[in-house]
Amino acid sequence: MHHDTKAIHIPARRSQGAVAPPIHLSTTFEHGPAGEHLHGFEYIRSGNPNVDDLQERLAAIEGADGAVAFGSGMAAGAAVLATLKPGSTVVFHQDLYFDFRTLAQKVLPNWGLRCQIADLTDPSERSRMFADGVDLVWLESPSNPLIEVLDIRAISQEAAACNADVLVDGTFATPVVQRPLDLGATYVLHSLTKYMGGHSDVQGGSIAYRGDPSVADGLVETRRLTGGVLSPFNAWLISRGLQTLYCRMERHCRNAQIVAEALETHTAVSRVRYPHLPSHPNFDVAQSQMSSGGGMISFELKGGRDTAIDVASNLKLFTNATSLGGVESLVEHRASVEGAKSTAPQNLLRVSIGLENPEDLVEDLFAAMPDR
Ligand SMILES: Cc1ncc(COP(=O)(O)O)c(C=O)c1O
Repeated sequence: MHHDTKAIHIPARRSQGAVAPPIHLSTTFEHGPAGEHLHGFEYIRSGNPNVDDLQERLAAIEGADGAVAFGSGMAAGAAVLATLKPGSTVVFHQDLYFDFRTLAQKVLPNWGLRCQIADLTDPSERSRMFADGVDLVWLESPSNPLIEVLDIRAISQEAAACNADVLVDGTFATPVVQRPLDLGATYVLHSLTKYMGGHSDVQGGSIAYRGDPSVADGLVETRRLTGGVLSPFNAWLISRGLQTLYCRMERHCRNAQIVAEALETHTAVSRVRYPHLPSHPNFDVAQSQMSSGGGMISFELKGGRDTAIDVASNLKLFTNATSLGGVESLVEHRASVEGAKSTAPQNLLRVSIGLENPEDLVEDLFAAMPDR
């Protein structure tokens, strides 16, 4: 069965013939007098039918051995990190979602983890870092906000040679565009809050993995003990979002390719960062591991920070708001949003390309730019 069919038909269970599944809001489930499980569920923090359905659907789409869903992308990532033994080394790619960078720098040392930040696009830096000892390699591809593309296959092979696991945060790409487990990664993380939910109205996160089922036991136990649980309603909404993921991504990607190509022609723009533009420094890797360029673009303006903020404020169809992956286009000056410690260039705007007509998006962007 093709993945887009699985997104609609898995799980195949139906309750009382209902074509749209019910939402199980119950926090507790009947058990036997000696605590025997009668219905497969016990207490909402340990498991819920809607969360189980979502996990089954995620694992099927991702081609994973299993998937575990969490209350947010951050909770999903933190659960993987919490399963590491104190003294473990995690090597993060340097262009990293801001809150994961803060977690790595401020919190993980308190957990006894050694955190290194490196340029994992550079093979010689990788071999230096990995030779120093590594347990988990963590990368986003494409990365946030510089849209760097990392060679997942090569990094996974190199990590495997050091007995290290690889976590790919595939939030920007989704499984429609990129399939990290097929390329050798151990874990795929998604902020389900983005494209997977797809409508800017639900938060969630997931880890899909390949390998031993005991991986799931560790993640589920961490979720139960630390409480990063996904609510049944949110699980239901995300499952509904997944049913249209393949259709939506086709349009997000087509729109983004058109917008990226148009931006490259504008004289006020100094650089467009989009994986499927031949000008992208990792274009060859992007062609080999991404079926299209995704829906996220970052671009830089010749005029610097002030021009970038002017453009963001002149836009009419793009809303200035954080997050991404919804049906509506969003724009963000990441350096402002991330604050003083941001590593985002001051002249960079990140746009999440929505499902509007691409001609309207290009017209809006061009109207917001300084005169040619
Ligand atoms: C690439 C990436 N990973 C993870 C996250 C965290 O996801 P959440 O906000 O669902 O916790 C984000 C949030 O923006 C993100 O952009």
